[in-house]
Amino acid sequence: MSKLFIDACFNRKIERTPVWMMRQAGRYLADYRELKTKYDFLTLCKTPELAAKVTLMPLKEVNPDGAILFSDILIVLPVIGIDVSFNPGPIISNPVKTAADIENINVVNKTEKLVFVYEAIKNIKAELPEDVALIGFGGAPLTLAAYLTGGGKTGNFKELRALIYSDPQRAHLLLDKLVDLQADFLTSQIEAGAEAVQIFDTWAGSMPREVVKEFVIPKIAALIEKIRQNIASKGKEVPIIYFIKDGSHVLDLLNATGADVISIDEKISISYAAKFIRNNISIQGNLDSSVLYCSKDIITQKVDDILKSVPSGRGHIFNLGHGILPDTPVENARFMISEVKRLSKRV
Ligand code: CP3
Repeated sequence: MSKLFIDACFNRKIERTPVWMMRQAGRYLADYRELKTKYDFLTLCKTPELAAKVTLMPLKEVNPDGAILFSDILIVLPVIGIDVSFNPGPIISNPVKTAADIENINVVNKTEKLVFVYEAIKNIKAELPEDVALIGFGGAPLTLAAYLTGGGKTGNFKELRALIYSDPQRAHLLLDKLVDLQADFLTSQIEAGAEAVQIFDTWAGSMPREVVKEFVIPKIAALIEKIRQNIASKGKEVPIIYFIKDGSHVLDLLNATGADVISIDEKISISYAAKFIRNNISIQGNLDSSVLYCSKDIITQKVDDILKSVPSGRGHIFNLGHGILPDTPVENARFMISEVKRLSKRV
């Protein structure tokens, strides 16, 4: 059976708009909070049965069309020798500081070690309803590099910016290594059973346009091309979603990423973004997460506004502009998703 979510990514004809929420497996769910009293975040990520259980939690609570693997973009870093802990924000005890640190990073055949991720995917697939798509994910090179160089605690990632301006060659080397690492990681997730993958570039949009042009777009294009080549040889075709936050100054550049879907935040309308993003690229987004604290009338209105802002003929996956907030009322998330399904029905 072809899944609605996948069809929308490839802009095929569909009967209604699919919907899911970034961070939909998390603290707004009582079952998740309960599990967190027994296990810490990394244990949940690294135990395939538990990661599968958390991934599937939102399905019965809010009924989305996609399930995103429960993990974190930084889960990959220990395989290249970077120590990560969470409290709940990420803490990196040995950030990359010197030229030698960058040169010494070895990414060859490293993601084989992330067996717990691939096992989680297999466990999820065994229980996934047949109309829900499993979304794998990874961090984009620049966003990973921002944490790698900054220790993960600053807001503006001045260390990465300084590296880009003072030693662009080594910045490229670091990013190119991360392209290879993430190409391997996302390919392995697809081989394990992920039916779509999302590349999270949370911090790319905080960079100046010229930096995005040189240090973001070509890396995403290379990453996507590598994944496509890897999976084509196995006869697979899987949609690749590129999420960028704060990307309104670089929308025209995103066409060159090669992504099937561009995911945007709530700061711009989908109709505005669609003027810059080529017609054959689907758009994902972009309800303000805070709307989920409003009354049902407002939720319905805001859902309808977004559905109406999608130009006809454009592929669209409904999502939030960024992650769902930890204290969101579950019934509002459930109501929002049911409203997307009801209002987007094409008869
Ligand atoms: O979307 C999902 O439901 C799947 C799980 C998921 C997590 N992190 C779980 C998580 C995904 C897709 C991510 C991606 C991620 N992680 C991004 C990109 C998306 C974005 O939000 O911009 C980034 C930048 C990170 C790094 C990270 N991990 C941060 C900044 C934090 C702390 C902020 C927070 O939400 O608490 C984390 C921790 C984290 N990742 C938690 C969860 C559920 C909280 C840990 C806990 O529950 O104790």
